[in-house]
Amino acid sequence: MLTLLRAIEAVYREASEGPLAVASARIAVVKDRDLQLGRAGRKPVAKFVGQAVELGRRGPLAEVAEAFAAVEPLATWLQNPNYSVEGMGPGYDDRYGYVELIGPGRPVESTDLLVGLLLLGPEMHYPDHAHPAEEIYHVVAGNAEWWREGEGWRMRPPGSVIHHTPMVRHAMRTSDEPLLALYCWTGNVEVYATMTETRA
Ligand SMILES: [Fe+2]
Repeated sequence: MLTLLRAIEAVYREASEGPLAVASARIAVVKDRDLQLGRAGRKPVAKFVGQAVELGRRGPLAEVAEAFAAVEPLATWLQNPNYSVEGMGPGYDDRYGYVELIGPGRPVESTDLLVGLLLLGPEMHYPDHAHPAEEIYHVVAGNAEWWREGEGWRMRPPGSVIHHTPMVRHAMRTSDEPLLALYCWTGNVEVYATMTETRA
């Protein structure tokens, strides 16, 4: 877990200001003894970890992909309690989940910073949603399309950085590859995302 946090810190360290600089400084002081590891809970989406890590190893965030592979068997997989198969579509059950490292009730406790990794399986549409926290994604693995209010769908390859301002509507969709993406939330991190009315 600490190796994964250090790999994330190295990605964020390049930012001299803003949320990533805050996250980098916070991660830099985490010690092994600070980590509160919860009970493992796997979700069906975890079956795509191997494929995602293989893709991630070839990308610019290879160290994050490698470290995630080592942590994942002990990680607690989560799904947003606001979502369901009705809102998200059939992929909700087996092609969507995330692991959180920093945040409220997470291995590194924080009430204003949340860091995790989202995994989507292939052929998955994560519909239009929004949340009050500011969000910065780094694509670790997978060539997927990303949508943001006011922009069309865009292909974002591994290494892409995607910024979502508070409450901006956004969405993603995968084709034949899974998507593994590192996210950092700041601000109001205690309010979960909700699906928005208009689907992208
Ligand atoms: Fe988001």
